[in-house]
Amino acid sequence: MNSGKIDEQGLIQQLLPSTRIVVLTGAGISAESGIPTFRDAQDGLWSQFRPEDLASPEGFRKNPKLVFDWYAWRRNKVLEARPNSGHQILAAWEQQFPHLTLITQNVDGLHQAAGSQQVIEMHGSIHRLVCMRQRHPSPWVEAADTVPLCALCASQLRPDVVWFGEMLDRGILQRIGRALAQCDVFIAVGTSGLVYPAAGFLDEARHAGALTVVINKEKVGEDRVDLLLQGSASEILQRLQSSWNQRSQGMDSPG
Ligand code: APR
Repeated sequence: MNSGKIDEQGLIQQLLPSTRIVVLTGAGISAESGIPTFRDAQDGLWSQFRPEDLASPEGFRKNPKLVFDWYAWRRNKVLEARPNSGHQILAAWEQQFPHLTLITQNVDGLHQAAGSQQVIEMHGSIHRLVCMRQRHPSPWVEAADTVPLCALCASQLRPDVVWFGEMLDRGILQRIGRALAQCDVFIAVGTSGLVYPAAGFLDEARHAGALTVVINKEKVGEDRVDLLLQGSASEILQRLQSSWNQRSQGMDSPG
């Protein structure tokens, strides 16, 4: 299914080793590994809290232990999960396409677990902590009765993720801006396209002249993308990969 400007075979034709590709992933790619999306993670035990109270500097100041425990719960879910074939194919693309830039909004580390080595984690990582005062980094430590403290400055440790109302790292945004300005093909996988600045990347790439593709189980961005591939992220990436393999084999064989 697509918006008609290009079809799936047309996309495969564009995917050459020299193509500058930017892939942006969101919660949808990890959904098939059993990771609850942010909203799903509001279910059950945590449904009585507002997202702003669990994922904001104000929420942390008000109740640091509550916020820390929520992230510890989410991190345990991530530790139980395995990357799926969608993550694995994108890891293979790192070898296949030397000019690939992989950007994720996910904090779960599943791209790295699948073997991707150059991942831009624009919203940080749930596996690391930083301190509130100076952002000194720290590996994960469990909370006891209170949240753990920084070994260097004794301020409280918090997850190294971007919360509501916080700025993204300027260096990361600059790297992303450069990749978007130069990209030939932009592919958004499993993201609702609601949360800025990531929500603006597709238009940035389009204005830079890139072919734009969305892979989503819903009809996201159908009015403005060149190709909408609707369905499961892992199934569609597998299909693209096997078409790409077939085409490459065809190009290698004589005659
Ligand atoms: N295959 C493809 N797409 C899927 C699948 C799947 N198996 N499962 C879900 N999706 C799609 C949904 O249709 C939806 O469009 O993934 C998208 C998930 O959207 P969100 O939950 O909004 O996740 P994301 O876009 O990553 O959110 C961005 O918002 O909650 C904050 O900081 C958090 O990084 C997050 C940011």
